Amino acid sequence: MCNGEVISIRRDIDALFRGAPWPLRALATLRPFICPFEEVLKEVPARASALDIGCGQGLLLGLLARRHMIASGVGFEANPLTLGIARQMAQGQGFNTLSFIQGTTPDQVPQGPFGLVMMIDVLHHVSVKDQKSLFLAAALRVAKGGRFIYKDMAMRPLWCAWINRLHDLILARQIIHYVPFEIVQLWAHEAGLKVMRSESLRRLAYAHELLVLERPL
Ligand SMILES: C[S@@+](CC[C@H](N)C(=O)[O-])C[C@H]1O[C@@H](n2cnc3c(N)ncnc32)[C@H](O)[C@@H]1O
Repeated sequence: MCNGEVISIRRDIDALFRGAPWPLRALATLRPFICPFEEVLKEVPARASALDIGCGQGLLLGLLARRHMIASGVGFEANPLTLGIARQMAQGQGFNTLSFIQGTTPDQVPQGPFGLVMMIDVLHHVSVKDQKSLFLAAALRVAKGGRFIYKDMAMRPLWCAWINRLHDLILARQIIHYVPFEIVQLWAHEAGLKVMRSESLRRLAYAHELLVLERPL
């Protein structure tokens, strides 16, 4: 997949992390080729207050701020080192509507409510016992009429799932735990969210599942 939007996202990421260490910048600029960010961006409601759970180095919030797509953004992230990169990126770019909070547990997630909540490629990194509570915490932060964009790596086809397992073992040094897509949809239902879009997507050898949810007014 290499369309104009993918190239434009890659260019924006490169600009966002110009001051970051080169291996990190290189990996970040390769990400749009294996992760369908363009599909995520398509689903972002106009000028919302955004919460990005497991925001990593702030790539998505940075993209949204650079494109003037959100009114404000809060990143919630477990890893203080990646959070440092996110803060540096926001400061370097003059994005003073972005802030970043460190935490791991559902009760530490900022209360909101938010017009946009995102959880992108996070759940498979969370321990099995904490997956449901973190997902529900995210869902409960969605304001009435607001949107929750969830994307994660898929368990099927198996060969793609194993390539991603290897990827995460090498890059994140972590054994990951996939959550079946049907289970995530059950949790969304339990949290009172309505499914607006549910789709499987493939980028090279990486299989993804995208879920766009809304809290009815
Ligand atoms: C693969 S990265 C994705 C980062 C970002 N969402 C993106 O798409 O660029 C997964 C991130 O989730 C974070 N994470 C995992 N468990 C978490 C938790 N319980 N609370 C907050 N962040 C968590 C990890 O530290 C990591 O930065």
